[in-house]
Amino acid sequence: MLDWSEPTTKSNAQQPLSPTPSPVADASGLGDIDRGAARVSVDDKSMINARADVNQLLPMKYHWAWEKYLAGCNNHWMPTEVSMQADIALWKSQDGLTPDERKMLKRNLGFFAASESLVANNIVLAIYRHLTNPECRQYLLRQAFEEAVHTHTFQYIVESLGLEEGELFNMYREVPSITDKAAWALKYTQSLDDPNFKTGTPEADQAFLRDLIAFYVVFEGMWFYTGFAQILSLGRRNKMVGIAEQYQYILRDESIHLNFGIDVINQIKAENPHLWTTEFQQEVKGMLKEAAEIEAAYGRDTMPKGLLGLNAHLCEQYMHFIANRRCGQLGLEQVYPTTENPFPWMSETMDLKKEKNFFETRVIEYQNGGALSWD
Ligand SMILES: [Fe+2]
Ligand SMILES: [Fe+2]
Repeated sequence: MLDWSEPTTKSNAQQPLSPTPSPVADASGLGDIDRGAARVSVDDKSMINARADVNQLLPMKYHWAWEKYLAGCNNHWMPTEVSMQADIALWKSQDGLTPDERKMLKRNLGFFAASESLVANNIVLAIYRHLTNPECRQYLLRQAFEEAVHTHTFQYIVESLGLEEGELFNMYREVPSITDKAAWALKYTQSLDDPNFKTGTPEADQAFLRDLIAFYVVFEGMWFYTGFAQILSLGRRNKMVGIAEQYQYILRDESIHLNFGIDVINQIKAENPHLWTTEFQQEVKGMLKEAAEIEAAYGRDTMPKGLLGLNAHLCEQYMHFIANRRCGQLGLEQVYPTTENPFPWMSETMDLKKEKNFFETRVIEYQNGGALSWD
């Protein structure tokens, strides 16, 4: 039984003869309390394999993680705040959408519906356990809630449009080009899910980095972006404007998720340069190329004929452009020849402040100003 009124010094006196803390703290933060441990110093904090107690946010070391936590809170929104009336009318009208547009929309929704859950599970069940820094964990908790809001969005869309309940959420098992994406990412989180997995060796720490790259850089930072381009392209043509508005909010959240992931990876690299070998860099570049190819196959499957100014070839070019950008953010050489962004309108569409209807909704009141940066 702990006596909270006891001063720390007294606890120290009650300690056994060897009060020296173990070199690596308990990563879960749920182990026995080390009564004799010295107070946490900033220098003891680290991204992985930390020596510092993971339960102490202060003193803060990684201010960038805290800033992203605050930005996420400022961007709070709920899908139910977006009106679906126009979408329902268009969806139910016979000639509102072409059969190709309907197919693309459904596959897009199906891809995101399960992906939000995969990303959330990876954060909560894999990343959180091994990222031994409280500032980063604070952000992960916020991100986990945002992924729940995103999953809620797809439930709300199913309900609003009266879609068949099991259809969207089962697509990741039933549509091969979507299954291929989910299966590619799952193998990285599965290796961390092994109950015997622990960071602390170069092999295990690289496995952790691979998982961060697969989910933050590829899933959220590449694959989500072609999905956003498809829906925002519909929205630009005044079709399914409620879903397009929800995707803009999701994109705003995902942009911060991606940038957090990039910062986490780069910070781990800086603290553990021995992990970032030439061989490993080659492997990471290979992962990004493989991911771009899987996405190209998905583009051919969802848009076989081309629509809304999009087609499989342009989506592939967009993926190459994005893959090169992600390489740059990770300090890697680009993996494709330099290519123009085929969807320059994406950066404008992403700027919520330019959309006048956002000022008319309650959601904007959550936004405390502050420049949003899109990537
Ligand atoms: Fe999400
Ligand atoms: Fe996300």
